[in-house]
Amino acid sequence: MSEPEPSLSLRGVFIAFEGGDGAGKSTQVRLLREYLEELGHTVVVTREPGGTTFGRTVRELVLHGDHVAPRAEALLFAADRAHHVETLIRPALERGDVVITDRYMDSSIAYQGAGRDLGVEEVRDLNLWATGALLPTLTVLVDLPAEVGRTRRQGVHDRLEAEPADFHGAVRDLFLGLAGADPTRYLIVDGELPPGQIHELVRDRVATVPGVAR
Ligand code: TYD
Repeated sequence: MSEPEPSLSLRGVFIAFEGGDGAGKSTQVRLLREYLEELGHTVVVTREPGGTTFGRTVRELVLHGDHVAPRAEALLFAADRAHHVETLIRPALERGDVVITDRYMDSSIAYQGAGRDLGVEEVRDLNLWATGALLPTLTVLVDLPAEVGRTRRQGVHDRLEAEPADFHGAVRDLFLGLAGADPTRYLIVDGELPPGQIHELVRDRVATVPGVAR
């Protein structure tokens, strides 16, 4: 396996948001998009699973279908990601755009690797293969205790959200472990702060990413 390639050889900037369910990532994605567009960037906002037509079919299967065997689930998320990278993310980065994705491979490492207990290394390697080892320039982890996320989501649960508290606890710990081990590529923000304050922290950090300030 070749070493992971942060998207350095590409002209664009690749930013991922990660975190548990109900952490408020989509609000942050929207606010960051507005900020970057004001700076004059072309911004592509996308998400996983489901950023492409193929991905929307996978999303239905994996989030709203009947039982899916854990390894099949990991492969479906990886298949969505492989197609997403090849048809949408990499071309946008080659054009020099900023790509913001709501979730990327750390979600698989956390939910399938740790939550489903399929093995963090195995799921990481699967996803490095699926993406040609494309890593974000920066990953923002919006961290939230699992109980708080659950309360915010209220009654609506997809297959993953419906998992018990210890599953979501393992997911959170794994996200924090990944982000804490690599502060140059991750920003951890407290998801219990007001959204405006979270955005300021994100904006300040994103402004330091090469190619962003103008
Ligand atoms: P998300 O789209 O963030 O949920 P929603 O739009 O309902 O807020 O994520 C969907 C679910 O899929 C979420 O519970 C996390 C899970 N997931 C994985 O388990 N593995 C993955 O690789 C990805 C991308 C998501």
